[in-house]
Amino acid sequence: MVKIRYAAILLLTFLSATVSAEGFKFITMSDSRGPYNGVNDSVLTKIVNHILKTQKGVKFLIFAGDMVNGHENNPELTFNELMHWKEVMKPVYESPDFVWPKIWPVVGNHEIRHRKDEDNFRKAFPDVFANGPDDERGLSYSFDFGNSHFIIVNTDRWYYGDPDDTTDDRRDWHYVKHLDWLEKELSAAKKRGAKHIFVFSHEMAFPTGGHLRDGLPNLTRNLVLPLDSTRIWYLERRNKFWELLKKYNVDAHICGHEHLYARQSVDGVYEIITGSSGAPLYEFNPRYRENPDTVYPGEEMSYGKAVKYYQVLKYNYGPGKNSQASENFFGLKAFNYTVYDVQDDYVLVETYGGFLKEGTHNILGTEIKLIDKFYINKN
Ligand SMILES: [Fe+2]
Repeated sequence: MVKIRYAAILLLTFLSATVSAEGFKFITMSDSRGPYNGVNDSVLTKIVNHILKTQKGVKFLIFAGDMVNGHENNPELTFNELMHWKEVMKPVYESPDFVWPKIWPVVGNHEIRHRKDEDNFRKAFPDVFANGPDDERGLSYSFDFGNSHFIIVNTDRWYYGDPDDTTDDRRDWHYVKHLDWLEKELSAAKKRGAKHIFVFSHEMAFPTGGHLRDGLPNLTRNLVLPLDSTRIWYLERRNKFWELLKKYNVDAHICGHEHLYARQSVDGVYEIITGSSGAPLYEFNPRYRENPDTVYPGEEMSYGKAVKYYQVLKYNYGPGKNSQASENFFGLKAFNYTVYDVQDDYVLVETYGGFLKEGTHNILGTEIKLIDKFYINKN
């Protein structure tokens, strides 16, 4: 009898260890700004309801920035919008299935439009680890969960300049400032034996639609060749960022900023843009067509103008090419959220989304369904 009980305890111990090592799920989404108190309540609520109704076993959600519109001249209003966003997200905050802090926030450019906005963000989202670089506390941070390490890096900050000079004061965005901190994080996670590493920021390294002119390459509105020293600086910084992700075998860089769903593996690291849970949807980078100088509805620029950007970014362009960084690019113009089922040897990535109501740019017109599924294999 004693032997049986002992065996049962052993079995239970084994099972519980196996269960905890079996993996976990998390969700990413981004960009919910809209017309109701800075938020697209309607789409965001439908997505939240879909998550709570259909996704089981999810432990937390990471929101990759641009929750709200924000205001250049009214930081109090921006703070109120963030509070309103939290109200819309209340079902997630109150879900007993999610674990503390339930939603991990990433700062976006729309949250940083005034010198008080970084503090606004910290005040709105106090529940993050204060383990980032000194000047990015609450904006860059990291944590472990299960067999994985999560790193949130800021791409949208404020430059405070000389406190006595009111003109020396501006947005400072489109780059990862603390690459040294990122490398220490990556290296330490590898040494601890993390099976997976996920890196998050608001802005993407490889623009796919709507932001060819900015994002981390930051090529600007009117690109002039040869590149000036400022353009080269941003591009080199973007390249160093991606080199680090490659060096430490990061699973994916997950971001927003572009209001669409896109994923591609660039030199072995996935970039996943999980970019609209309410913000107006974007078109993808213009592809080769018969009339290269025509700007087609919703596109950022004509194909003819985009070619210069593709050349600098080393994208695939021309007849039959996809105008993207990688030939394995897949994207949909859809409102979306993505679920990651993290196991030891692989991550199953499933994206759920819905499409626009005809003739609109920010109204969900279809049911939310599975729209993409792929695996990130670690072996
Ligand atoms: Fe953005």
